[in-house]
Amino acid sequence: MRNRRGAEKAGAGFGWRSVLRVGLWFVPFLYPVGAAAEDHEVARGAYVFKAAGCAGCHTSVKPKGKFLAGGRRMETPFGDFYTPNITPDKTHGIGEWRFADFVAAMREGKTRDGSVYYPAFPYSSYTGMTDDDLRDLWAYLRSVPAVSEPNRDHDLIFPFNLRFSVEFWRWLYFDSGRFVPDPQKSPEWNRGAYLTHALGHCGECHTPRNLIGGLDKTREFAGNKNAPDGKRVSNITPHPKKGIGSWSKKDIVSLLQDGSLPDGDFVGGAMTEVVENGTSHLTDEDLRAIAEYLKALPPDEGPS
Ligand code: HEC
Ligand code: HEC
Repeated sequence: MRNRRGAEKAGAGFGWRSVLRVGLWFVPFLYPVGAAAEDHEVARGAYVFKAAGCAGCHTSVKPKGKFLAGGRRMETPFGDFYTPNITPDKTHGIGEWRFADFVAAMREGKTRDGSVYYPAFPYSSYTGMTDDDLRDLWAYLRSVPAVSEPNRDHDLIFPFNLRFSVEFWRWLYFDSGRFVPDPQKSPEWNRGAYLTHALGHCGECHTPRNLIGGLDKTREFAGNKNAPDGKRVSNITPHPKKGIGSWSKKDIVSLLQDGSLPDGDFVGGAMTEVVENGTSHLTDEDLRAIAEYLKALPPDEGPS
């Protein structure tokens, strides 16, 4: 979304919703005929949920926790975050929330008491979600089993332990607003851009960051030598040597389907979970759209 502001102007009056729908035209046919409207929203929401990769962060793995009951530790240079319970439990989860609270969290990064969320919750990507996707995602979240699991406080270093320190980061790096398609580009490219940014939040790992955790938007997807967990994340721009310039679109689709690399090996690290919880559940059409988008990025050799 490098040209989001420019595209916003160019896109005024353009029927972007219909453009986004093109990539999803067949999804409704996957549901049983005659299902109630809510069932339809829940089923569509389950798809959005997978495309947006919510499960991994909100489900503890060590120790193994209940689905979406939170408690997963995220190690960062600012300290450890513990994700919250997002099941419909009224005491410990988000059972008392209204849809408007959910929209404020996802689109604005605002808590119910008017404070702000840490960007460890990737709302700077999710802010781009369409209204329909947010509504369906909400319907799906209401449908999962409530788990009575209390939240654990984050364990952050000063000054990041003060929630308002996030305001500074937000002022520098957070732009709220729905994804705006580029009418100069194909529907497939636009669907790919939407899946990559607003749902898949691929840049949260694949885009280099500066010292205070801001994404370097001038080098999107050019890789990160020092991800928040201290690991290395690949350059996925089409740079011939440093990126995935030699990959075909089919190679990209295969990787997102089952983690297989063009050389016959399998992808590792944090990407394993992205594939397992997320991209392996997407339709071929959506995966092709992501491949189309990645192949059209400017090749970038990445930060040295
Ligand atoms: C990279 C990890 C990560 C991913 C992916 C993620 N979240 Fe979160 N989420 C967090 C963290 C960390 C917090 C707590 C932020 C804070 O305390 O400021 C959070 C907070 C939330 C909250 C606020 C809960 C509360 O009690 O205030 C909601 C709602 C939420 N996430 C929903 C989602 C949904 C829906 C998705 C998928 C679309 C998602 N999250 C994906 C890490 C993640
Ligand atoms: C939680 C962090 C994270 C997210 C989110 C993420 N990735 Fe990755 N990705 C990685 C890591 C780490 C690797 C390197 C894995 C390895 O070392 O085997 C990787 C590897 C890859 C590769 C293989 C590159 C190569 O040269 O082998 C591709 C392609 C890729 N990711 C695409 C994506 C796409 C598309 C998305 C969004 C749908 C995405 N990734 C989201 C962390 C992430």
